[in-house]
Amino acid sequence: MAFVQFYPILLSLLFALFSLSVLAQTTSNITLGTSLTAGEDDSFRASPSGEFAFGFKQIEEDGFLLATWFNKIPEETIVWSANGQNLTPKGSKVELTSNGWFQLVDPNGKQIWNANPLGTEVAYAAMLDSGNFVLRGQDSQNLWQSFEQPTDTILPGQVLNQQAQLVARYLPTNYSRGRFQFNLQDDGNLVLYTTFFPTDHVNSAYWSTQAFGTGFSLIFNLSGYIILRADNGTIISTISSNTMYSRKDFYQRAVLDYDGVFRHYIYPKNSGSSTGSWSTFSVTPSNICLRVNEEMGSGACGFNSYCTFDGTNKSCHCLNGYSFIDPSDVMQGCKQDFVSQSCDQTSRETDLFDFHEMSNMEWPFSDYEHFQSVSEDWCTQECLSDCFCSSIVFKDGECWKKKQPLSNGRMDPSVGGKALIKIRKDNATLIPEDINRDNDRSKLIIIGSTLLSSSVFFNLVLLVAACLVAYRCCRSNPKGDQDVQLTSTMNLRSFTYEELRQGTKGFTEELGRGAFSIVYKGFLPDTPGNLIAVKKLNMVKGSEKEFEAEVSAIGRRHHRNLVQLLGFCNEGEDRLLVYEFMSRGTLAEFLFKDQRPTWSQRVDIAIGIAKGLLYLHEECSTHIIHCDIKPQNVLLDDSYIAKISDFGLAKLLKIDQTVTTTAIRGTKGYVAAEWFNNKPITMKVDVYSFGVLLLEVICCRKKFDLNVEDEHEVVLIEWAYECFHHRRLDLLVENDEEAQIDMKKVEEYVMIGIWCIQEDPSARPTMKQVVLMLEGFMDVSNPPDLSSFTS
Ligand SMILES: *[C@@H]1O[C@H](CO)[C@@H](O)[C@H](O)[C@H]1NC(C)=O
Ligand SMILES: *[C@@H]1O[C@H](CO)[C@@H](O)[C@H](O)[C@H]1NC(C)=O
Ligand SMILES: *[C@@H]1O[C@H](CO)[C@@H](O)[C@H](O)[C@H]1NC(C)=O
Ligand SMILES: *[C@@H]1O[C@H](CO)[C@@H](O)[C@H](O)[C@H]1NC(C)=O
Ligand SMILES: *[C@@H]1O[C@H](CO)[C@@H](O)[C@H](O)[C@H]1NC(C)=O
Ligand SMILES: *[C@@H]1O[C@H](CO)[C@@H](O)[C@H](O)[C@H]1NC(C)=O
Repeated sequence: MAFVQFYPILLSLLFALFSLSVLAQTTSNITLGTSLTAGEDDSFRASPSGEFAFGFKQIEEDGFLLATWFNKIPEETIVWSANGQNLTPKGSKVELTSNGWFQLVDPNGKQIWNANPLGTEVAYAAMLDSGNFVLRGQDSQNLWQSFEQPTDTILPGQVLNQQAQLVARYLPTNYSRGRFQFNLQDDGNLVLYTTFFPTDHVNSAYWSTQAFGTGFSLIFNLSGYIILRADNGTIISTISSNTMYSRKDFYQRAVLDYDGVFRHYIYPKNSGSSTGSWSTFSVTPSNICLRVNEEMGSGACGFNSYCTFDGTNKSCHCLNGYSFIDPSDVMQGCKQDFVSQSCDQTSRETDLFDFHEMSNMEWPFSDYEHFQSVSEDWCTQECLSDCFCSSIVFKDGECWKKKQPLSNGRMDPSVGGKALIKIRKDNATLIPEDINRDNDRSKLIIIGSTLLSSSVFFNLVLLVAACLVAYRCCRSNPKGDQDVQLTSTMNLRSFTYEELRQGTKGFTEELGRGAFSIVYKGFLPDTPGNLIAVKKLNMVKGSEKEFEAEVSAIGRRHHRNLVQLLGFCNEGEDRLLVYEFMSRGTLAEFLFKDQRPTWSQRVDIAIGIAKGLLYLHEECSTHIIHCDIKPQNVLLDDSYIAKISDFGLAKLLKIDQTVTTTAIRGTKGYVAAEWFNNKPITMKVDVYSFGVLLLEVICCRKKFDLNVEDEHEVVLIEWAYECFHHRRLDLLVENDEEAQIDMKKVEEYVMIGIWCIQEDPSARPTMKQVVLMLEGFMDVSNPPDLSSFTS
């Protein structure tokens, strides 16, 4: 009985406790009509536990960052910042206006940033104990949260969805957008990229999970795991897993650091006042110096420098005789401190220069000459007498001359060989002329960097131009743009001939052959299905280095609709390429056998091929023209996903116009007219071939078929055009019920096909437009007449 009487008291006590805690929490709320002012005492709000705070953080004399930070540690590490990471002056305000508008205004009251969810009114803002800063509505629902707009850091409890991005800051204490990105892409791939700084355009990928799908999220869970997970719960990839340090005793954060390394950090919570510090728990990628390989750009460090990695920290160093342009920003690279060698015939100055030797050092992509079977002495003499030569790399009797600026420099035991850097012996001689020379050089550097950025600019212009026609569609389908992604050469493996001979049982099981190669089936542990396809090339001119450069360019292309190159063999006369094995064979086999694929399968295949081609055409640094698109060069995987094979081979095999012309003369095939009439070969040749292939996919028949009753039908593109012209498209898909109930799409696809095979290359759409039309994001207009066919 006493207990029953006691019960209401307990209840009211509980209630009092509860309302007390609400009271305590409201202190960390920003309510309607409240503002915080940069530079004043009350310029931030802490979370209820005090562990995190939101408000203004002073970065420089008159520069404040609107940010969230760890509030209980001396470092006050910044987690997130607003306003594109830009600083605002003293007197700036962040305010929640009385009509529910959350904004940052400068001292004159001009709005410079806002976080207003469209069409909703914010009731209050709160800094939560998780480190998440939220704007909430009347019903306490989150309308906006900093966890969904990350800058460079993620915290335990944070989840990133597809299309999320982290951008590294510029320098440890400069929060503006830097040179590296971490993207969870639209296609599910989680990728680390260098960028074409100062733009946000991605340059080259240096790490990725290489997994593709939808509904993927990156989760930093409360036990300290950072995982990529599919929405069905499957863990796609574990990026970091902290099983040692508890949340109770340690703070955690994961950051894409300014140096491009994604690090998971921990910090002991109760280490007394000042002894604690952030320590690195894991790093991704494991060695950034070796991973960044870019044809454009300086690499993991700046130009004329080299990169080393000790397992935790990346360091950039200048070569002997060079020094940092800006020691506080080493990514700007190194300048030469001595006067360059004279190119004057009479005073070659060969005796004034010498070499500084460094082992295990290399700069891929900076070569301009290559010699084989030479001695090191010969190599250094050759460089000494060449005023363009700034250094050489020597390895196993091979000598590469390097030009400036050197890029992608790295020093690592796995590199092998040695670098010899040419420097002036007596650099004292440069001092008298120093001032003038230095001016000249800084001018040169400026000109060089202008040229460099203008070539980036030029690429951008090209890209913009390519997109211009498709502009409206690009806008209505922003996802289309994200389709393009790439990964680095990280998994490209160099095989010995013997390994591949054994793997293919002595090259016995032939899968197919073409003019320049034979493909064999092979067995290799650690590959999907343990199977590979080995392509033996029988016509490759050029040196090993060139072959490897080309192969690595191919290897960097990674897309769901491209057959992935796994490795290569480059031994003596033998050049082999190793690809993933495609269990369903070629599209030609699938399309032209008696039991045809279903209409929806064909639609998927057509879109897949178009996307693969789009990727080859518009990927930023080097465009690849395939030159040989046909059903025999499209393979199908287990799930009938179409993958383009043999891309990049045109360049590798040096198939130039003349070779191909003689080989194809007189056949009206997949080949556009410009091959015959000396017009420039552009990406539009692939569009033409794609058009022919698309018609084959729609009709499930070959481009030529002599076994037809009516001679009008022998040449597919002519017949298809006639059927279109006479509105008899049903004839093209006779006996195909599924297609017949989808005649609208059949018609659109035929029209797209006809657009692609226009004689005038400029009349053909770009692959981007083709993809948009195939996917129904862009209307297909009536194609012009193909006058030559209507006889
Ligand atoms: C913040 O303020 C709102 C509205 O005044 C209130 O309903 C809510 O309980 C408060 N929340 C916190 C965490 O203080
Ligand atoms: C940070 O770096 C950027 C890029 O170099 C520069 O424009 C900006 O002025 C720097 N900000 C500060 C506060 O130094
Ligand atoms: C975090 O993820 C790991 C790995 O999936 C799992 O074992 C652990 O239980 C998760 N922790 C929480 C709090 O969800
Ligand atoms: C979950 O999704 C992934 C990726 O989409 C897939 O590979 C896996 O088979 C799925 N697992 C289950 C149990 O459905
Ligand atoms: C890495 O760099 C940080 C900051 O410069 C330093 O505190 C730390 O000791 C370095 N770690 C190693 C392993 O050198
Ligand atoms: C040449 O320059 C380097 C680096 O600037 C310096 O260490 C060296 O002492 C100089 N040598 C002479 C002969 O002045």
